[in-house]
Amino acid sequence: MAITFDPSTKIFHLTTSASSYVFQIGPWGRLVHLGWGRRLARWDGASAPRPVDRAFAPNPDPLDRTLSLDSLPQEFPTAGGTDFRSPALRVRHADGAVQADLAYTGHRVAAGKPPLSGLPCAYVETSSEADSLEVDLTDAPSGLSATLVYTAYRDRDVLVRSVRLRNGGTSAVELLSVQSLSLDLGDKQYDLLTLPGAWGRERSVDRRPLHSGLQGAESRRGASSHQQHPFMALVRPGADETQGEVYGLLLVYSGNFAARAEVDQFDSTRVQLGINPEGFAWRLEPGETFQAPEVLMVRSSEGLGGMSRTFHQLLGRRLARGPWRDRERPVLINNWEATYFGFDSDRLLALGDEAAKAGIELFVLDDGWFGHRDDDRSSLGDWVVDRRKLPAGLDDLGSRLLDRGMTFGLWFEPEMVSVDSDLYRSHPDWCLHTPGRTRSEGRNQLVLDLSRPDVQDFIVASVSKVLKEAPISYVKWDMNRHQTEAGSALLPPDRQGETQHRYILGLYSVMERITSAFPAILFESCSGGGGRFDPGILFYMPQGWTSDNTDAVSRLAIQYGTSLVYPPSSMGAHVSAVPNHQVNRSTPLATRYHVARTGAFGYELDLTKLPSEEKEALKRQVAEFKADRGLLQFGAFYRLLNPAEGNETAWMSVSEDRRDAVVTYVRVLGTANAPQSVLRLAGLDPAARYRIDGQKGVWGGDELMGWGLRLPDLWGDFLSLSLRLRAEGS
Ligand code: DGJ
Repeated sequence: MAITFDPSTKIFHLTTSASSYVFQIGPWGRLVHLGWGRRLARWDGASAPRPVDRAFAPNPDPLDRTLSLDSLPQEFPTAGGTDFRSPALRVRHADGAVQADLAYTGHRVAAGKPPLSGLPCAYVETSSEADSLEVDLTDAPSGLSATLVYTAYRDRDVLVRSVRLRNGGTSAVELLSVQSLSLDLGDKQYDLLTLPGAWGRERSVDRRPLHSGLQGAESRRGASSHQQHPFMALVRPGADETQGEVYGLLLVYSGNFAARAEVDQFDSTRVQLGINPEGFAWRLEPGETFQAPEVLMVRSSEGLGGMSRTFHQLLGRRLARGPWRDRERPVLINNWEATYFGFDSDRLLALGDEAAKAGIELFVLDDGWFGHRDDDRSSLGDWVVDRRKLPAGLDDLGSRLLDRGMTFGLWFEPEMVSVDSDLYRSHPDWCLHTPGRTRSEGRNQLVLDLSRPDVQDFIVASVSKVLKEAPISYVKWDMNRHQTEAGSALLPPDRQGETQHRYILGLYSVMERITSAFPAILFESCSGGGGRFDPGILFYMPQGWTSDNTDAVSRLAIQYGTSLVYPPSSMGAHVSAVPNHQVNRSTPLATRYHVARTGAFGYELDLTKLPSEEKEALKRQVAEFKADRGLLQFGAFYRLLNPAEGNETAWMSVSEDRRDAVVTYVRVLGTANAPQSVLRLAGLDPAARYRIDGQKGVWGGDELMGWGLRLPDLWGDFLSLSLRLRAEGS
């Protein structure tokens, strides 16, 4: 068992492959956090917090001034009592009280991991992979209970936490803040790492030392967003890519979130992750339960690289689902940057012909195939093929692509409605809004109210109808604006604070219904690029469009930052035209290919316009990629050089047996009289000897990793190198 409880000390000890997490039933039945760190055979209390009489620390027990919740490390602190720090739970009872004195009432341990009702979650394939603990806490005066749920994976350095609330009383309780995870770390010697960004600049790595008071990241946009990410890591100051202690925390949720760290007066750090309390309120009627999303917790003593590889395995193998989870992803051509809205079937088929000649496997028809959508001002919601552009329909186009040896994929933006649409004309109340108030448009569109069951049913029916009518084997599910005026016409005034969370629950339900009805289809999520590239969506769709910015240089930072958490198999990455449409930069075709290939790879440019030598180069790229696709998409990923730290970026993929590896190196700007670069590799077998394709010589894994490989000189800007390593004897 990875979880034990000692009734004499009342200590819970959770162990993962390399870590221990310990807490205890303490004073007043409160759960006292005792630590999360290197795995211990047994916790004997050498590092236990010492009760101290602190000035201005209120004491629930007047006879003991050393005990105050304000200085006690806790598992699930609540508002309104003697703890002045950020609460994990804030409620309002029918009598106006905001207290919730949650005291231990029982617990259960079982093998495996239970699913969460209505929410995406990590899973196990056999119950021997993990053990789970549920601890019940109850507020006696109200009957409100909280069940803290913990899972410890036996062979991964992963814990999972969530909380379920139940109103066991006789009056409704208003939930004002429910944080899925609260963790009181014993000191403040950490850097806080988050992944902020913007459209076209998603998930840059932001690392800074913790300071006193509150800090963190949040979204109030109704989506996890381009701007912040539901992830935070606490990194020991000296830790880097390869060594040092890192605690990575990831909320499995796609809506408004808050990720906070609060350094208190005694230099301990409270870390919390959950649904953003701002704008959130939920009325819990007697007998009802509320399930908060879960947090994936990874501890690494092998730096950020170790953390990332644990996340990659967990997200790739135990969060993503379906037949595509472990399958190599098809090389695709997407027509968006090739044609935008200006296409007809002849133009698409001409593009398809070139793609087929290059060995591309999947043709994706992007925005503009439905209604009368010649620009972004109309037709969202009217999922009926535009016969002006495709007179013979989607079925015919799909069949013609199949004849050319390619499969067919289609773009949807199911959560939106254009004001100029039949859908909006017949259901003006189906969008998020408050009657009589402004409905702000974004990209000329409104957001459908997915908290409504009728809207959910409409989306499932209209998308399913199209998927049944044509031979579609891939769907790109886009979402192109954030939520404003987020009211729902179906909810009463005092429940409007529930709308945005209900939207996300509705979205998950719609995605579950559609993806399970069409299990053979490969779904790729998108939100103006990577605006909802998050673990919640990954549960339904095993890959996402990483960014609308396809410039190879910009992509170095975007993919580097995204790789902190997400595996290459999940990252959509395409070769596009030059000058690049987002930044107007021209980079060599080889560099664009080298950057894009470590992911769910494809092309997004007008192949018919390429000179013949580029068409030939493209054919060679596709063939080379296919030969190494499994390694590039599913191999262990090592970051070698950070684009934020200099002119060079490098990363590599290593096979499970460490006999094969592919290294990608990009140098952004050329330098006169440049120093020679020596690149230290990682993840190889130190005892093996490696050859590099196209080069003379054999090199020891120990030398390549410890001393490094002297790279050839490059002449020019935006140049790249690819190194294919094979262990001798393989
Ligand atoms: C935003 C996406 O990120 C693009 O790839 C493209 O699908 C457009 N939407 C289409 O409107």
